[in-house]
Amino acid sequence: MRKKIVAGNWKMNTTFAEGEALVNAIIAKKGEVKSDVTLVVAPPFTHLTCLAEELEKAGIGLSAQNCAEHESGAYTGEVSAKMLASVDVKYCILGHSERREYYGETSATLTKKIALALKYNLTPIFCVGERLDERESNRHFDVISAQLEVLTQLSAEDFARVVVAYEPVWAIGTGKTATSAQAQEVHAFIRKALAAKFGAAAEQTPILYGGSCKPSNAAELFAQPDVDGGLIGGASLAADDFIAIAKAF
Ligand code: PGA
Repeated sequence: MRKKIVAGNWKMNTTFAEGEALVNAIIAKKGEVKSDVTLVVAPPFTHLTCLAEELEKAGIGLSAQNCAEHESGAYTGEVSAKMLASVDVKYCILGHSERREYYGETSATLTKKIALALKYNLTPIFCVGERLDERESNRHFDVISAQLEVLTQLSAEDFARVVVAYEPVWAIGTGKTATSAQAQEVHAFIRKALAAKFGAAAEQTPILYGGSCKPSNAAELFAQPDVDGGLIGGASLAADDFIAIAKAF
């Protein structure tokens, strides 16, 4: 059985007080979610240290939204994987389309980041996904294949620790969700591409869907055989919606 994961990507939202209130509200409702569903939240860096202990106690995973591509040193403004691990962060979102688009992250950058995340025992949540023009010109499978090369160069041991998120860029924050059939088609494609390199291990890789996932569409998406959960942006900022999505399993 593959792990089921519902992860909230808060992006650059919430003051510390708002983030703490959101975490408390999620913890209060966590009992409504089936015990085989892992909840993860990815608050901004500033909140991580103070939220780690209560999330750990509640059995909710703590994720960062990014980490540096270097170990340490003169990189003003950056936060390293080692620093994240030192405050008990367990996951790290890498390769989100906003990082690729606005901060120029390439596969070369992401190869370094993923190696450091794994070195410090963070579980990478590695995002892939095509832009609208790429889908409209029927290049989405090529784009995703190329993005997956960051993973196919990992050792089998490292690969076994990775979570993948398929996030079509045209669905992120737009209210326009991929249909469950579109999601399933790409998730099955991703699993097959990973299986070509890693064999049966790819059967165990959680592949999350992201992009305007909300309580009203989560059940249909999560019912697809290769959709193992969600990476939730906007709807993860309201505890009721986040929990309702997790309950869709
Ligand atoms: P969204 O964002 O749910 O707001 O579309 C998803 C994401 O970017 O992870």
